[in-house]
Amino acid sequence: MASKVLLTGGAGYIGSHTALEFLLAGYEVVVVDDLSNSSEKAIERVEKLADKSVRFERLNVCDGEAMRKLLTEVGAVDAIVHFAGFKAVGESVQKPVEYYRNNLDSALVVCEAAKEFNIPKIVFSSSATVYGLAERVPLVETSPTGGCTNPYGWTKYMIEQILRDFAKATPSLSVTLLRYFNPIGAHPSGEIGEDPLGIPNNLAPFVCQVAVGRRPKLNVFGNDYPTPDGTGVRDYIHVVDLAKGHVAACDHAKPGVKVYNLGTGRGYSVLELVETFKRVNNVDVPYEIVDRRPGDVAICFADATLAREELGWTAQYGLDEMCRDAYNWQKKNPNGYRD
Ligand code: UD1
Repeated sequence: MASKVLLTGGAGYIGSHTALEFLLAGYEVVVVDDLSNSSEKAIERVEKLADKSVRFERLNVCDGEAMRKLLTEVGAVDAIVHFAGFKAVGESVQKPVEYYRNNLDSALVVCEAAKEFNIPKIVFSSSATVYGLAERVPLVETSPTGGCTNPYGWTKYMIEQILRDFAKATPSLSVTLLRYFNPIGAHPSGEIGEDPLGIPNNLAPFVCQVAVGRRPKLNVFGNDYPTPDGTGVRDYIHVVDLAKGHVAACDHAKPGVKVYNLGTGRGYSVLELVETFKRVNNVDVPYEIVDRRPGDVAICFADATLAREELGWTAQYGLDEMCRDAYNWQKKNPNGYRD
């Protein structure tokens, strides 16, 4: 019988791409999502792409009773992959209590569910943000953590700790903490992709909206960083590669806690990304250099060796494909899933 995975937040950007990769790898997929920042259409398209069905339940993971009811119905689950959470960095500064309440409560419900239903594996959607204002790059999994610059980052940090403590008390449990670098791009089909509400905070969706004329220009936050062209350097990773990292994590999970960076190991500057986007898509992206954005670091990229050695996972796509697929999705779905 196929292994069954439960994806919380499985209708969102990374969750939907991961649902697809699990289906393609032969898993049965159950998605829970409250659709507060996602669309059921993403699930329908995942089903079409995989030619398989997903069991979808609209619920908030913080609702322990609803989760219990669902888990009673669906039978043995092999792994919970926990994506659900608030994720806007700026908003988390304005609404810290809401962020702590939502993100920590949902993680605690995941732990309670794993305990009550004997679910052997938890995979958590963590972030390079847990490294805070890192002093040295590339970041390795043993680099210091903490010193996060916003409540969103602290929720990731705290949930990692909660899961470590839970694993310590539950020797049969496997916990994998996946620290994402900068996921961008979309499925090459252009059927699923990133659909931010309102003005995008992150670089790639903003560039896409400028390229299709939804916004007049990109603001480049600072060109006086100690980097080759002065703009910030990040480790962008194709969302399909990232999604596959979750399947590899489930396939290789053993009791105990494991932490993996999911990045390409290569950094690109803001201007390199913009120039690549223009070249591969043959489109203009007007931009202006403005002040630095508070809280931004100059350079952040991963050492992704551990994931390669232990999970047999490496990123396959380069920046060209990331930019091509991001734009393809944006052109096919100028208003995201809201068409
Ligand atoms: C941010 C968050 C990180 C979170 C990630 C995904 C911070 C400090 N970090 O990462 O915690 O996990 O998003 O949501 O907020 N840039 C521009 N113009 C723009 C947007 C971005 O020049 O309009 C630049 C930034 O200064 C940065 C790079 O592009 O150098 C990438 O920015 P972004 O996509 O927001 O990601 P991070 O800041 O790396």
